[in-house]
Amino acid sequence: MPVWRIALGGNNRQSQPVETIALTYLQGHARFNGRIRQQFSRNKSVPLASHHQLGIQMKLQNKVAIVTGAATGIGQAIAIRFAREGASVVIDYVGNSSAADQTMNEIKSFGGKSIALAADVSKPDQVQNLIDSTVKAFGRLDIVVNNAGIETKHAFVDFPFDEMQKILAVNLIGPFLVSQAAARQMIKQGDGGRLINISSVHEDLPMPTNAPYCASKGGLRMLARTIAVELAKDKITVNNIGPGAVYTPIDADIQANPELEKALMAEIPLSRWGKPEEIAGLATYLASDEAGYVTGSTYFIDGGMMRQSGSL
Ligand SMILES: NC(=O)c1ccc[n+]([C@@H]2O[C@H](COP(=O)([O-])OP(=O)(O)OC[C@H]3O[C@@H](n4cnc5c(N)ncnc54)[C@H](O)[C@@H]3O)[C@@H](O)[C@H]2O)c1
Repeated sequence: MPVWRIALGGNNRQSQPVETIALTYLQGHARFNGRIRQQFSRNKSVPLASHHQLGIQMKLQNKVAIVTGAATGIGQAIAIRFAREGASVVIDYVGNSSAADQTMNEIKSFGGKSIALAADVSKPDQVQNLIDSTVKAFGRLDIVVNNAGIETKHAFVDFPFDEMQKILAVNLIGPFLVSQAAARQMIKQGDGGRLINISSVHEDLPMPTNAPYCASKGGLRMLARTIAVELAKDKITVNNIGPGAVYTPIDADIQANPELEKALMAEIPLSRWGKPEEIAGLATYLASDEAGYVTGSTYFIDGGMMRQSGSL
């Protein structure tokens, strides 16, 4: 365990204000939080402190992670948190690169490592390129978060064929393709890995007017359970996160309609939107070494929504 010594007075290093030394140290380790600032704002000597004692142990040090659809919302929060935890992060995005660039700049601002790569997760050649480019840039691949997802709502009997196909292609075929290409790489490396799908409460809960989305998330449920069993011998764990209502662009229609939002809140025992950062916290645990014995399940993070039957 690395240790760090600060004692005031004497040589060059010691003549710096303690807080400057602390900041320099922490910037080097890509993490700085309020508790640590408080600890070092008292201008006195700190004899010996380990990463652990400082509360700066990073959970994903030296890991390489891909997060799909990471330019916005939940994926963005996961990419930023993973980078804060020491991972090198590939921000997968589609279309315009400006939001992905912004995410990359935020990661850069605290000394984290990331690159942005354009890849449509529903296209096998682009997915393979995403994996190959990741390995080229960072040398390996340890963690994949299948986060990219879309939804549009129509009555089942009116659902346009093209839209239905697109939703299944991004939300279900995408995670299949990315997990398959990633697992091949992880098996080649020989020391395991983590596959995490951002599913939804709708892998279990029906949502009228959202049949393809619910079908895609229901499919993710059994995709994860099946490949968790297949890949266990390779020490690759596979888990789903099932968020409830999280405040991101995907729910813009509800956020823009106060009545709908009120009805939604009535379905949630904790009576609020979830935050993308809260999903990122669970993803960090599942991606970490601490979760080595966790595989083949879905972890709901929904303010209690799954326990409340309702009309939405
Ligand atoms: N926000 C919620 O309430 C909520 C609840 C449950 C589950 N989810 C799931 O969380 C995930 C993230 O959604 P979000 O809420 O952050 O919304 P979001 O719209 O901000 O994020 C979705 C991201 O996926 C990207 N994307 C779309 N098609 C893609 C493709 N073909 N290839 C690669 N990327 C693509 C989008 O550009 C976007 O950045 C989705 O899978 C969604 O189903 C969200």
